[in-house]
Amino acid sequence: MNIHQNCDSVAYKIAVIPGDGIGPEVIREGVKVLQTLQDCMPEVKLEFVYFPYGADHYLKTGETISEEGLKELSKFDAIYLGALGDPRVPPGILEQGILLKIRFYFEQFVNLRPVKLYPGVPCPLVGKKPEDVNFYIVRENTEDFYVGIGGRIREKRRTEHEIKRSIYSIKFGLDLEVDGDEIAYQIGVISRKGAERVIRYAFELARRKGKKRVTNVDKANVLTHVYSLWREVFEKIAKEYPDIETEHAFVDAISMWFVKNPEWYQVVVTPNMFGDIITDLGAMIQGGMGLAPGGNINPEGISMFEPIHGSAPKYAGKNVANPIATILAGHLMLEQLGETKAAEVLEKAVAEVLREGKVRTRDLGGSSSTSEVGDAIANKIREICGIRHQA
Ligand code: IPM
Ligand code: MN
Repeated sequence: MNIHQNCDSVAYKIAVIPGDGIGPEVIREGVKVLQTLQDCMPEVKLEFVYFPYGADHYLKTGETISEEGLKELSKFDAIYLGALGDPRVPPGILEQGILLKIRFYFEQFVNLRPVKLYPGVPCPLVGKKPEDVNFYIVRENTEDFYVGIGGRIREKRRTEHEIKRSIYSIKFGLDLEVDGDEIAYQIGVISRKGAERVIRYAFELARRKGKKRVTNVDKANVLTHVYSLWREVFEKIAKEYPDIETEHAFVDAISMWFVKNPEWYQVVVTPNMFGDIITDLGAMIQGGMGLAPGGNINPEGISMFEPIHGSAPKYAGKNVANPIATILAGHLMLEQLGETKAAEVLEKAVAEVLREGKVRTRDLGGSSSTSEVGDAIANKIREICGIRHQA
């Protein structure tokens, strides 16, 4: 069907980057499910264009993603990413050169990671039920220790005096004693503007989703410079939302409380690095990495959606990985595009398949393949839409 046939509806242009490892397998199911939605719901129109970025492309061409590549992506409405990382490429090259590059280039300053336990999914926390695990983590996505400022200095090449001078000269007011022959340092940066925009997003999200509490997570008792600014901004923004309750938690403590009392949490907002760590913990309490999606969001720009798990090279090509995290990333993408109805149908289909428990991959104790799970969800969408039409 011609995408411009119906003048009332727009076709969204989706850039698909399958990436490495299990990325292509899970993305295939994600696209399958989105295509099924499109078949069943005439108002949803999506156009997929594939990009080869990842290990193979890098090994062949030496390119991670170029400036032109990024410009090309800026013509799209959203980006749908599988996973990046490959044992043939040293750690960091693809992650920094593609994933972080895209997050920074498009100023996707929110990393939205819902933590939701669906009925039928085994929870590793004894006695916790779906109603106990249902919150959002809003992770800052462009600052903190991810800015890449740092270095490594070896004494063999410089005298201790020069090492110290070179560090002072960075003008971050450091006063390090160099003992031993080598030092490395890395600097975290929080900007007032960067903190404000993501913290405000967290409060707006709380209102939109009917949540009543926003928890700030930091480590302002030790990393006093960066996180006291962060905390100051949180308190200032909180005053604009008197209807929302607020609290502070240190990152070490919240790691314990996520396990002990997940039901307490509604919206959690945190700087980049801590957000990275506590969202893996969040993934486990919702049933595992195979179920956890993430959205790298620029509310006024181009956002990117991905499972939060990595490329899992040892499972690549075996058709065993759980595609649900990627399929749920598609749900976040539809929500962000404003396709609320389609997003609801997609989530309902996933929830039904999980609740029935007949088709599930090994991580959930089943023996179904990646593609069988995608098929089951696609069939469930057809079923839901059929019922809808009859009603
Ligand atoms: C994630 C990942 C990335 C991150 C890595 C691959 C750079 O762990 O999306 O959580 O640290 O943000
Ligand atoms: Mn991570």
